[in-house]
Amino acid sequence: MAAQLNIFLGMSIISVLLMLEVEAQAGSFSVLKYGAKADGKTDMSKALLDAFKAACASSSAAKVLIPKGSFLLSGAKLEGPCKGPIEFLVEGTVMAPPDVKAFKEPLWISFNKITNFKMSGGGIFDGKGAQAYKREGCVKTDYCKHLPINLRFDFLTNAMIQDITSKDAKQFHVNVLGCKNITFDKFTVTAPKESPNTDGIHIGRSTGVKVLNTKIGTGDDCVSFGDGSENVLIKGVTCGPGHGISIGSLGLYQKEDPVKGITISGCTLTNTKNGVRIKTWPNSYPGVASDMHFEDITVRNVDYPIIVDQKYCPWNRCNLKAESKVKLSNISFKNIRGTATQEEAIKIICSATYPCQNVELGNIDIKLAGKGTAKSVCTNVKPKLTGKQSPPVCTGSSKASDASDKASGGSGKASAESGKAGGGSGKASSSKKKSS
Ligand SMILES: *[C@@H]1O[C@H](CO)[C@@H](O)[C@H](O)[C@H]1NC(C)=O
Ligand SMILES: *[C@@H]1O[C@H](CO)[C@@H](O)[C@H](O)[C@H]1NC(C)=O
Repeated sequence: MAAQLNIFLGMSIISVLLMLEVEAQAGSFSVLKYGAKADGKTDMSKALLDAFKAACASSSAAKVLIPKGSFLLSGAKLEGPCKGPIEFLVEGTVMAPPDVKAFKEPLWISFNKITNFKMSGGGIFDGKGAQAYKREGCVKTDYCKHLPINLRFDFLTNAMIQDITSKDAKQFHVNVLGCKNITFDKFTVTAPKESPNTDGIHIGRSTGVKVLNTKIGTGDDCVSFGDGSENVLIKGVTCGPGHGISIGSLGLYQKEDPVKGITISGCTLTNTKNGVRIKTWPNSYPGVASDMHFEDITVRNVDYPIIVDQKYCPWNRCNLKAESKVKLSNISFKNIRGTATQEEAIKIICSATYPCQNVELGNIDIKLAGKGTAKSVCTNVKPKLTGKQSPPVCTGSSKASDASDKASGGSGKASAESGKAGGGSGKASSSKKKSS
């Protein structure tokens, strides 16, 4: 009898060990096992960090699971390197504290230095930005400087973010910095039109970035690019509301890395302030941006569908007489069609010091949504024209600079917030650069 019991116990222990072994192999680390509660009010920051640390220490592929339900998260800094590939399966809704004073750094959740990273599952990261959008007491307490970015991806290599939503971020929704080979697929960004500085996806100092089949409606830029963005493809993205797709603003900081190889293809912008845009500061530091291609773009009710603005000056606090020293070259706009709300639907304002080189405009068909006729305004550029352009592009050049001053004043005002955004993230990323 005793011997039998012993054998029975022994077998039970073995089977429990086997089960544990199987679990370790599958490498699933649910935040529930680490104390998280799907009650929408218990802070899961410790549970998430512990689950991540365990996954990160696993030598085989490991999965962090945030199951269905709603979770409160005060913040998380998830730092690699990890021993094996890491997957985040996010099925639930993760919510930030609404109180802006709860944040001391410009981040809510960051993923740092992880190789072979995946995030998927249909989950939602809700930044609860409503209070932040009011900017109440901003000057006094100065919290606006470090309003948190919803999701930061810093120094990731081989990453895939799929089927995930970022909602109502207090500042940018997503910031990509120092990444190599990172793809966003079926990503969603949603925030109100009146949410300041809430860029959808901001990319800087990264190479091999793809944003595919993504839907972005927010208060600021849809996708924006800082210095050092290289080899980027934005395809099948719909934008609106917001400020459109924007390269720059460039030239505000010394020694910015070149922007090179950006393709924006098959995108639709609806009710946005701008369509596709490249902007650099006047009186800027030297810089280079080349190989930027915009093709098969549909605009609907967009204020300014095509803009190159080398006199970008929100708040009108620049020396507009001094030219930009950012050299722009190898730019194409092809198959851009739809409706604009402002007459100056096409503005190509280049630097007198470094006129834009090798600019091509292909088939363009932009009509005014209301009465009147769309037109183009050009300075310091002699584009190569292929196919048909309506309105005519860069014909007649009288009063071009008058028009351009007015034009950039207008667009500057319109996007003052995105100017702030560029500055803020630029600073954030330069400090990051030092630490890398
Ligand atoms: C890029 O990352 C993906 C994972 O998202 C991976 O499958 C692919 O092999 C990587 N490509 C290269 C060239 O390393
Ligand atoms: C622009 O394109 C030309 C021809 O394709 C190439 O030779 C040149 O290096 C490119 N310029 C830059 C700055 O990349």
